[in-house]
Amino acid sequence: MPRLRFWLLTAALTISACGGPYPQSTLHPRADFGRAVDHLFTDIFWWAAFVFLVVETLLVVALIRFRHREGRAAPKPLHGHTVLEIAWTLAPAVILVFVAVPTVRTIFATAGEAPADALKVAVIGHQWWWEYKYPDLGIVTANEMHVPVGKAVQVSITSADVIHSFWAPALGGKRDAIPGHLNRIAFRADSVGDYSGQCAEFCGASHANMRLRVLVDSDAGFQAWVKAEQGGPVAPAPRSLAEHGKAVYSRSACLGCHTIQGVSPGVIGPNLTHVGSRATIAGGIFPNDSAHLAAWIADAPSLKPGSLMTRMQPPLSDADIAAIVAYLQSLK
Ligand code: CUA
Repeated sequence: MPRLRFWLLTAALTISACGGPYPQSTLHPRADFGRAVDHLFTDIFWWAAFVFLVVETLLVVALIRFRHREGRAAPKPLHGHTVLEIAWTLAPAVILVFVAVPTVRTIFATAGEAPADALKVAVIGHQWWWEYKYPDLGIVTANEMHVPVGKAVQVSITSADVIHSFWAPALGGKRDAIPGHLNRIAFRADSVGDYSGQCAEFCGASHANMRLRVLVDSDAGFQAWVKAEQGGPVAPAPRSLAEHGKAVYSRSACLGCHTIQGVSPGVIGPNLTHVGSRATIAGGIFPNDSAHLAAWIADAPSLKPGSLMTRMQPPLSDADIAAIVAYLQSLK
């Protein structure tokens, strides 16, 4: 029963999330990359519609005009009509040229070269979450990527374990995240917003639970985010629950996997230095609130099949979990 209540709460929060992230759709692009792919799709769609219409019309005409009628001889088959044969060979060839030229042009246009002054973001796929590093800004974060509106972004994509695929449909992608190999995409987002995406390559038990978000910020908003991320973790208020939580965190197994700058050095799981400022946890599948954080800390694998964050052994007391939750939420 508590599990059912948990999922109902999750569903209610997801449905009621006001504003919510932008729909995960390639048909409503909000970046140059997304637009290029959408234009190509529209082009090819109309060529296909035209071919469909011509072929179906000829088919229906032939069915009606040459159908079997009592007492009438079978229609004469057509053989060796040179003009007709040249025509129906040339027409598809010409149509294919009209499809191929924009396709090849789009492939090159989206090959991933951004101008030299583009914002660089390294994307690393993990089972089952996304890590983002901003090498020029000294920022490491997870699941929610921030980029400024109207600026070129150069994304290099790789994986720490198996093959994943980075895909934020309204912006661009998808492109595989392959261990030991760098793939690239480049895009310039044209509207501020919260764009959802997900892993698009089957990568194990929680492939479906490997979501992501790209937050396209105004210039000022992005600068503010960078400034907050570059600062160290917020120190909890003296004698607060969060301060107690920091002490519990510092003697728990959390240390081995997570980085909180100046507190713990782990690099297996997401960096938590500013986890309180993120909207979601667990690879973007749960809202970042007390109930979900507490349930996640107590028993992550029951919420996300195969989660590498194991069940706490020995289990933490409810009071200790509440303290850690207060601490993590204070890390804005
Ligand atoms: Cu990562 Cu599918």
